Amino acid sequence: METEYKGRLTYAKGASIEFVIAPNQDVDFGDILVVEGNNNDRFYIRAHDFKVKSRWSGLNGVGYLMSKLDENGQVVNQEELDFYMGGNHTVKIGMAEQLCYVDDKGQLLNPKTCPDFFCQVRALNAQDSSLLSEIKGDLEIGFLKSGRGVLTMPVGIYGAKSITEHIGIFGTTGSGKSNVVKVLASSVIDSGNYGLLIFDVHNEYFKDLSSHPMSRERLCVYHTDDKQYGKTIEVNFSEVGPEDITACATFTEPQLDAIYKLSSMWKDDWMRYALQYDAKDIIDELAGCTGQKFNSRTIGKIKSICWNLEQELHVKQEEATVISQIITELEQGKVVLVELKNISPVGEQALSTLLSKKLLNNYAGKTEEERSQIKPVLIVLEEAHRFLGKKENSSSNVFSRLVSEARKFNLGMCVVDQQPRLLADKVLSQLNTLFILGLASKADRSKIEAMCRKDILQQRNEIKNLDCGEMIVATNYMRFAAPVKVHKYENFLQQRYAGYVPVPPII
Ligand SMILES: Nc1ncnc2c1ncn2[C@@H]1O[C@H](COP(=O)(O)OP(=O)(O)O)[C@@H](O)[C@H]1O
Ligand SMILES: [Mg+2]
Repeated sequence: METEYKGRLTYAKGASIEFVIAPNQDVDFGDILVVEGNNNDRFYIRAHDFKVKSRWSGLNGVGYLMSKLDENGQVVNQEELDFYMGGNHTVKIGMAEQLCYVDDKGQLLNPKTCPDFFCQVRALNAQDSSLLSEIKGDLEIGFLKSGRGVLTMPVGIYGAKSITEHIGIFGTTGSGKSNVVKVLASSVIDSGNYGLLIFDVHNEYFKDLSSHPMSRERLCVYHTDDKQYGKTIEVNFSEVGPEDITACATFTEPQLDAIYKLSSMWKDDWMRYALQYDAKDIIDELAGCTGQKFNSRTIGKIKSICWNLEQELHVKQEEATVISQIITELEQGKVVLVELKNISPVGEQALSTLLSKKLLNNYAGKTEEERSQIKPVLIVLEEAHRFLGKKENSSSNVFSRLVSEARKFNLGMCVVDQQPRLLADKVLSQLNTLFILGLASKADRSKIEAMCRKDILQQRNEIKNLDCGEMIVATNYMRFAAPVKVHKYENFLQQRYAGYVPVPPII
């Protein structure tokens, strides 16, 4: 196989490396290169800086060249200057950091030693299979990016390792977050080994995901409207717990107290009775049971929120609802899309809380044996700071429970946000896989740098300059954070499915 020669090593100390770049070659910031060791081993390095050196670099040399210029610093005699500058007097030195090391048996290891003087430096190629299989994953997201080009080397994540360790997707509006979610969903559909629950706050995924060739078998859509496609969400009264209500609006202490008292008094029927009975009867009933006399405005507010939810989420008395169906679909490794755009913020929060809680309780209630029969599920939560922000992150919130407990039960959270700094530190520190897209604000970038388990300081410049659809993937099992050009969803399908024609939406 042809190797693309890039230069030769001229200096190494610990994990830092310098190499002289071959005269006709380009090396860019962020390029991942290979140093061929002398013992059939290899060193993977990332270029992070450059310097130019010449035999004229010394003070005397510079002074001599300056004397050839006129008083305005302009060249007097180009030919003469070319004569001095010509030949191999000038070199460009690349400065790099060793990322990992492959021994002669092809085993990938953290840096163990440094390469020898004048070893050859080359571009990555298909021979680098140990490295490529580590970054490839089973859920493909994009191609490895080199400084100015894209290599046809797939990058993705291993779902089995990363889903239960939680994922964060961060980027400013327009940086390509939704596209990443689509590509991830498409890879999940291809794989069939994981469930994916997407809370789609902008109703932006159905059109694209339903064009996936396997969407009929593997994509399920729910909404609260009467649409041509998908199913309408229906909830049973007994499925709505007090925490679903308290999660969706701000309540005063007496209101919270009343909600919990109602639920302990009437159990599964609490919401139905709260709607059915007059405020006055409810107050009497509560007074009889608990000795507490609640204000009629307190009860009024609770009744009003319950009424709104009943309307929006179609809360009914019928036994069979779609909730258990959704959970079964997720257990089977399907992608479940819940469209929330047309629901009020209150309804949206109640529904996402309720569904996530049911999923958590369902997975938590299973034995190890039972759990091994069902697929791990990833829950995608957009604009996550609304649920997992610094203030919202209380232990009673189902999403913070998911972040801290879910991995035991084979569940994981995928937190999508344009302002990671708004998320609680406790949440950020639990995200073991980060997809870092372009972040315009320095405060957000600094937050990510501070919270990321991988040392990404070396890539600070790269992160600052990420274009739309470009990202850095840092995950705990990969030895380094990889620069990625995310596939554009449509192109990804075309590339995967030769002769691909979008399928009409499912009805
Ligand atoms: N990897 C990519 N390659 C090419 N274009 C992309 C890529 N990711 C996103 N885009 C384009 O950029 C625009 C914004 O992307 P989107 O995913 O909606 O961003 P966000 O959700 O972060 O606001 C879209 O028009 C999309 O087609
Ligand atoms: Mg978006």
